[in-house]
Amino acid sequence: SLKVAIIGGGSSYTPEIIEGILNRYDSFPVTDIALVDIEPGQEKLNIVGELAKRMIQKAGKSINLTCTLDRRKALKGADFVSTQIRVGGLNAREKDERIPLRHGYVGQETNGAGGIFKAFRTIPVLLDLAEDVQEICPNAWIINFTNPAGMVTEAVLRHSAHKKVIGVCNIPFNMRHSVAEILEVPPETVKIEFVGLNHFVFGKKIYAEGIDRTQEVLQKLAGEELDYSPANIVSLGWSKTFIEAMNLLPNPYHQYYFQTREVLEKDIQAFRENGTRAEKVHTLEKSLFELYKNPDLQEKPKELEKRGGAYYSDVACSLMDSIYNNKEDIQTVNTLNNGAIPDLPDDCVIEVNSVITKHGPRPIASGPLPSTIQGSISQMKAFEELVIQAAVTGNYYDAYTSMLMNPLVADEKGSKLLLDELLKAHKEYLPQF
Ligand code: G6P
Ligand code: MN
Repeated sequence: SLKVAIIGGGSSYTPEIIEGILNRYDSFPVTDIALVDIEPGQEKLNIVGELAKRMIQKAGKSINLTCTLDRRKALKGADFVSTQIRVGGLNAREKDERIPLRHGYVGQETNGAGGIFKAFRTIPVLLDLAEDVQEICPNAWIINFTNPAGMVTEAVLRHSAHKKVIGVCNIPFNMRHSVAEILEVPPETVKIEFVGLNHFVFGKKIYAEGIDRTQEVLQKLAGEELDYSPANIVSLGWSKTFIEAMNLLPNPYHQYYFQTREVLEKDIQAFRENGTRAEKVHTLEKSLFELYKNPDLQEKPKELEKRGGAYYSDVACSLMDSIYNNKEDIQTVNTLNNGAIPDLPDDCVIEVNSVITKHGPRPIASGPLPSTIQGSISQMKAFEELVIQAAVTGNYYDAYTSMLMNPLVADEKGSKLLLDELLKAHKEYLPQF
């Protein structure tokens, strides 16, 4: 048997991962899927579960799919546990976005003050899950999509007994696909040497069909307004000077750090006109669930592509497939550094190309960080560790310094203002404080 438990199975994203599993059935023959959620009455879970069953039936596979609110039961016999939860739901996300924006700071779900609070709410829940996994299915791999994915993964590795955890994100996947579009080659032929942290990752070298095409891609990117952002982030493009001087491929989230004023201006304008991204996602989810309810629907609807996390299932499923089959192929994951980036501690989590084996990812040595990004990556890592510390201890000063050391806050009084207001707003999801 081969069992996958999906924590947060009632998510509107679930048809993605079901499709991914079905697409890989020949090499990754799943026999059981357990969708787990917490919503009393499990209305959303049942809608998604019924659609998933129709998808499985249409594909003609015999996979036993169950929907449950009983996590411990779902974990029994699991080989993979994929996590896609949002503690406090979209309401909490809305606060993470709105409160900083109203004070003139970046209001985003994984960056700045909002990202810090998402970590504070989420880390204790993931630690609790890891404890259950360790007790019930200790050999299972946790494939963590839960944001902020890098910090959550490091928190589990540092503070739980369960060490089989890997963090994943669709950004490296999206970047590969954008490059493929730029070069007009099939995405499978594109390889990028990634280095950095989750949502703070850079491409160092770009190869297509084994040929180094870094300069060509960078030249095409420079000064042109190529839209390579996922649905949740603005796309402002990069100046020729920035690209040429850095000589690196930035990810769309870097706009928050290197074009802070312009992004903030756009985000505040969008916020005034249409509210937060959370509100937009709320509307999108509603219409997705209306579609899912249709008994004639037997596949993942196209509309799901409007979500920022589109294609995450490809990332999750190729990873599980490679672990299961000990493929030893190369994928970009969040895992322990172990010397791959000598500038950072060995025991911290980085986002890096790794050889995927049945014993987990083995990060590929990347060498010292280019001096242009050595400072910002080291600072972001130090910041992330302050956040993890604060999430675990619930110590006010730890929380304050994490806020202060975030480049998108970095203000003495602003840190306290945001911290106090967000602590109050999220009180019910922060028992540690
Ligand atoms: C990106 C990120 C994900 C994030 C998603 C949000 O793709 O990599 O980590 O969850 O966007 O998308 P949403 O549609 O919820 O705004
Ligand atoms: Mn991500």
